Amino acid sequence: METITIYIGGAAHTMPYEAPRVLAAFLEPYGFPMPCGGAHTCGKCRVTAYGALSPLSETEKRLLTVDEQLSNVRLACCAQALGGCTIHARAPENARVETAGLSAQRSDASPFGTQGYAFAVDIGTTTAAVYLVDLTRARPAEAASALNAQASYGADVIARIARCAESGVRPLQEAILGQLDGLFTVLLKRSGLDARVVRGVVLTGNTTMLHLAAGLDPAGIAAAPYTPQSLFGVMESARRLFAALPPDVPVYFAPCAGAYIGGDLICALLAAAPQENELLMDIGTNGELALITGTGILCCSTAAGPAFEGAGLSHGMVAADGAITDVSMTGKGAVCTVAGGGAARGLCGTGAISALAALLGCGAVDETGLLDEQYHEAFPLMDGVALTQADIRQLQLAKAAVAAGVDSMLQAAGLAPPDLRALLLAGGFGSRIDVRSAASIGLIPPVCAPCARACGNAAGAGACLIASSQSALDDAERLAKRAQVLDLTESAFFSDRFIEQMLFPLF
Ligand code: FES
Repeated sequence: METITIYIGGAAHTMPYEAPRVLAAFLEPYGFPMPCGGAHTCGKCRVTAYGALSPLSETEKRLLTVDEQLSNVRLACCAQALGGCTIHARAPENARVETAGLSAQRSDASPFGTQGYAFAVDIGTTTAAVYLVDLTRARPAEAASALNAQASYGADVIARIARCAESGVRPLQEAILGQLDGLFTVLLKRSGLDARVVRGVVLTGNTTMLHLAAGLDPAGIAAAPYTPQSLFGVMESARRLFAALPPDVPVYFAPCAGAYIGGDLICALLAAAPQENELLMDIGTNGELALITGTGILCCSTAAGPAFEGAGLSHGMVAADGAITDVSMTGKGAVCTVAGGGAARGLCGTGAISALAALLGCGAVDETGLLDEQYHEAFPLMDGVALTQADIRQLQLAKAAVAAGVDSMLQAAGLAPPDLRALLLAGGFGSRIDVRSAASIGLIPPVCAPCARACGNAAGAGACLIASSQSALDDAERLAKRAQVLDLTESAFFSDRFIEQMLFPLF
C-alpha cells in the first residue's frame, strides 16, 4: 500500500494514498497556513516534498527560485500527490496573547451567574485568543492563543468567504470550533479544572468570523449591498457548537453593527471606552475605526490586508519568538531586535513597520515607496531576513487604506487631526506598534503621535467584560445599536485620499 507521510510540528503522520490530491488537502487538518487560500498568488505555502508528485506547475516555476526548485520545494496548493510521497511542512506558529491589563471593571453579576468560570474568545482572522474568566473574581485567570485554524482557507475574510462558496461553510466552521474545543481543553487542564465548571462562553470577532463560527453562510458580506445574515447579540447553547463543553452551557455571540463593523470593534469600544473626539483604531487584517463625536459613534472599516499581521510579507511571520520586532539604522546597516533573543526567523507586522520607518528615515526608500536600486529589490535586515520591494508595496497599500479611513472619519465628523484628543491603538498588532514608526510611515496622522496610546487586545478585554458582567453585555448591545457605519466603498473622498495616502510623509 502506498502511503503519504507528513512531518509537521515535530510529529509524523501517515495515511494511505487513495487518489490524486493537492498537497494542501493533506495539510489542511493541521492548520497549515495558505495565505491566498490556494489562489496561486502568494507563493507562501512552501513545503519540501518528494515521491510520486506532479511535475512543477507554471505557477511554481514562477514563484519558486531555481535553488528551491532543485531542493524539492513545492507549493502545497499546486503540487499533487500522484502516489506515495513525503511532505515536510512548517507548523503554524502561535502569536503571543496578552493577559496583562485584562481585568473586569464592573461589580455586577455575570450573565452566567456568580460561580464557576466562563470562556471569552476573540476570533481574529489571523489569531484566535481564548481567556478563562474566573466568575467569582470577575477576572481572566488564564489565556491561550493559536493561529486561526481557518488560515488554510485563506488569509483574509474575502478569501474565506470565497472558499465557503466553493465547499460550504461546514469545513471552516469545524476548523474553528474544533480549534476552540482544543484551546478550552488546554486551559481547563492547565488550571486543574473540569469542563463542568464552565458556565458560559462569549464569542467575539468580526462579522465574518462570527458567521463562520455559527455556521451561517457569509456570502452576503462579500458583495453589495453587504448584508450579513445576522448581527448577532444572541445567546445559543454549546450543544451544536462545542463538544468539549457540557451541552447546556450558554454561548453568547457579541453584537455587530454591520457587515464590516464586527463584535470585535464593539467589544473594543466597550473595553477602551473612548470619549468625545477620541479615535479607536483596531488594526489587524481589517482596520476597524470608531470615532466618538459630539452626537454619536462613527465607525468604518478598511481592508488593510494581512501585511500588518506579517502574513503577506516575503519573510513575514506572527509576533512569536524569532520575529524581528524593531529596526533602527546605523552607518553599518540595520540593527534589529528579535523577540525572545536569538536568531531572526522572520518579520512580524510591527517589525515591518519599524523597518519601513527606518528605511524612509535614512533615504533608502523614497516617498513613493521605491527602494533604492542599490539594494536589488530587498533590503537585508538580519540572518537572511529582508524587507523586499514587494513587501513595501503591500505595507504601502495597507497604510494608505487605514490612513484614508482615518481621513474619511475626520471629514465626516467635521474634524481635523489636531482636534483629536486621543488615538487609541487596539488589537494584537495595534497595541504592540511603535507609535513613532506608525507616524513616520503615515499610518496615523503624525500630529496625533503625542496623543496615541496602546490599549492592548481591547476586543478580548471587552469579551472578558461581557463574560463577567450583565451590564457590560447590555452596554455592548447599546453600543452596536448606536454605532453609525460610514460606508467607504462608494466614497469618492476615500478614493482620493487613498491615492494621496499612497505617498509616505516627508520629514
Ligand atoms: S500560492 Fe499556495 S496558498 Fe498562496
